[in-house]
Amino acid sequence: MITVENAVKDFRKVIKQPGLKGSVQALFKPGYQVVHAVNDISFEVNKGEIMGFIGPNGAGKSTMIKMLTGILYPTSGNISVAGYDPQKQRQQYVQHIGVVFGQRTQLWWDLPLSETFTVLKEIYQVERREFEQRMGYLNDVLDIAPLMTSPVRTLSLGQRMRADLAAAMLHRPKVLFLDEPTIGLDVVVKDNIRKAIANMNKVDDTTIILTTHDLADIELLSHRIMMIDHGKLVYQGTLNDLKDKYGKSKKIEFVISDINQPIQQLLSDRFSQRGIECSVDQEKGTLIYDRSIPSALILKELLELVSIKDISIKESDVESIIKQIYLAGDKYE
Ligand SMILES: Nc1ncnc2c1ncn2[C@@H]1O[C@H](COP(=O)(O)OP(=O)(O)O)[C@@H](O)[C@H]1O
Ligand SMILES: [Mg+2]
Repeated sequence: MITVENAVKDFRKVIKQPGLKGSVQALFKPGYQVVHAVNDISFEVNKGEIMGFIGPNGAGKSTMIKMLTGILYPTSGNISVAGYDPQKQRQQYVQHIGVVFGQRTQLWWDLPLSETFTVLKEIYQVERREFEQRMGYLNDVLDIAPLMTSPVRTLSLGQRMRADLAAAMLHRPKVLFLDEPTIGLDVVVKDNIRKAIANMNKVDDTTIILTTHDLADIELLSHRIMMIDHGKLVYQGTLNDLKDKYGKSKKIEFVISDINQPIQQLLSDRFSQRGIECSVDQEKGTLIYDRSIPSALILKELLELVSIKDISIKESDVESIIKQIYLAGDKYE
């Protein structure tokens, strides 16, 4: 349904020297720096799949979504969605996709919500009977009927998100793009939005790409995930594969009594050769090791080496797995 080959998006950023002189210089003789917002990303998404894009701020998630929806031109690479070229065939293409940007709305701000739907009905040429049936369904999953007479600007963020989702789904798009659909929402509203997204995926077999930095979105919704960092793909697969592959480790966290010892060095000398990862930050230390190594053994060695105030042993959860992957990525910069 979606094929992306070697997508690249570069932005030119003006470099400004500090101070007034720098500002003036930037105005008349700007220096540029190229930012690789998306740096050679390839992937495929099958029909009916929910693909989750995760990554820290500035990773390139929104840029990727904007290229997929046809708003931005890739610097290089090929993108095909539902058989369309999103840039070259934009007019036909938009009939088949729905888009929601969590940080912005596509609703008419000063008009009652119902007017947005009337306009969208005309834009997408939805017939009256289909329109009524569709509005009924969207009301079932997103409870929008009580919002219809309110001007959009008076809606709460959660209400607005429900309305935005409904608006994006009115014309039964084959593909739905959601950029941070749960950002800023409280826990209950997030949960409702996730249920609605899952339902729309199931009922219409809608292919969905969503970006988020909330791991719960990923755990509850995504069939597959793509992790990106500095514009690069650092992991692609199912959440279960991720756990199988990287969740094999355990973690000892400890608090050091005497931070004047060269602890990082001591730990590295003792553990690193055996593939045990050591890190020390102020008085906090961490050891990450394969779960086949008995924790008792590591503990014993650790206690011989450094004096410790407090200690805990953990299985790696998804969040720490992801941290681990990002930390590993930094080493190759
Ligand atoms: N229009 C733009 N002009 C210049 N740089 C941009 C523009 N849009 C995004 N960037 C840069 O591209 C990188 C990726 O941004 P973005 O795709 O918004 O990340 P994310 O959505 O993952 O937070 C960032 O370094 C950002 O500053
Ligand atoms: Mg973004």
